Amino acid sequence: MRSIVLSIGGSVILSEKGEISFLKELASLLKKISKQYKMFVIVGGGNVARKYIKLGRDLGLDEEVLDSMGIDITRVNAKLLTNILKKSNREIPCTLNDANNVDKPIVVMGGTIPGHSTDMVGAELAEKIGADLFIIATNVDGIYDKDPNKHSDAKQLKQVKIDQLIEIFGTRWTSAGKNIVIDGPALKIIKRAKLTTCVVNGKRLDQLERAITCQPFDGTKIIV
Ligand code: UTP
Repeated sequence: MRSIVLSIGGSVILSEKGEISFLKELASLLKKISKQYKMFVIVGGGNVARKYIKLGRDLGLDEEVLDSMGIDITRVNAKLLTNILKKSNREIPCTLNDANNVDKPIVVMGGTIPGHSTDMVGAELAEKIGADLFIIATNVDGIYDKDPNKHSDAKQLKQVKIDQLIEIFGTRWTSAGKNIVIDGPALKIIKRAKLTTCVVNGKRLDQLERAITCQPFDGTKIIV
C-alpha cells in the first residue's frame, strides 16, 4: 500500500479557540485518505510548546530540557488527535521504529529526541519507510519569500528548489520553539532522500486534501 507522511503543526490542531468542528472534519479527511494510503501523522507542539519553551528559557533552563518539554507537548497534541481518529494507535510511539511497527491504517506520533522539530521526524520517517509523499501542513499557505505573519508584501512561492531553501535556512538546528516553516535538519533529509514534499495550510482542509491526492493546490511544492 502507498504511504504518506503528514507533519501537522500544533497550531493547526490546537488553535486559540479550539475548534471542535475543524478537528472532526480533519479526522474525517484523514480516515477517508487512509482507505487508499497508509497514513503517518506527526503532530507539532504549536503555541503551547512555544509558551513553555519561552518560560523555561527565561528561567534559565538548558536547551535539552526545553526541547524535551516541547516533545511532551507534541505528544499531548498527538494523543488528542489519535483519540478522535479511532482507526489509529492508542499509545503514542516514541521512536520511528515503534511508529513503523504499529499495525493500524493511521499512525499518530509527536516528537522523538531533542534537537529538531517534528518536521524532521516526518522527513526521517518518510525516508525510512520510503513514503510516496511528505506533506507539511502549517498555519500559512506554504512557503513565502519572507514571514507572511510579519510582512504584508510577502510573496507565496508556488515551487521552490530544495537547494534554494537550504541556502536561505541552512541545515542546522538552531534552538527550541523557533517556529519556522521547515527546520534545517528536515531540509537536509528531504534533499538526501529526494522526498516529494508539499507545504500547505493545514487549516484549509480542501487544499490539504488536494495536496495529499496530488492535485494542484494552493501552497508550495518543493522541487528535489
Ligand atoms: P514542533 O515541531 O512543534 O516545532 O516542536 P515548531 O516548529 O514550533 O512547530 P509547529 O508550530 O507545531 O508547527 C516543538 C518543539 O519541541 C522540540 C523542539 O524544541 C521544537 O521546537 N522537539 C520536537 C524536539 O526537540 N524533538 C522532536 O522530535 C520534536
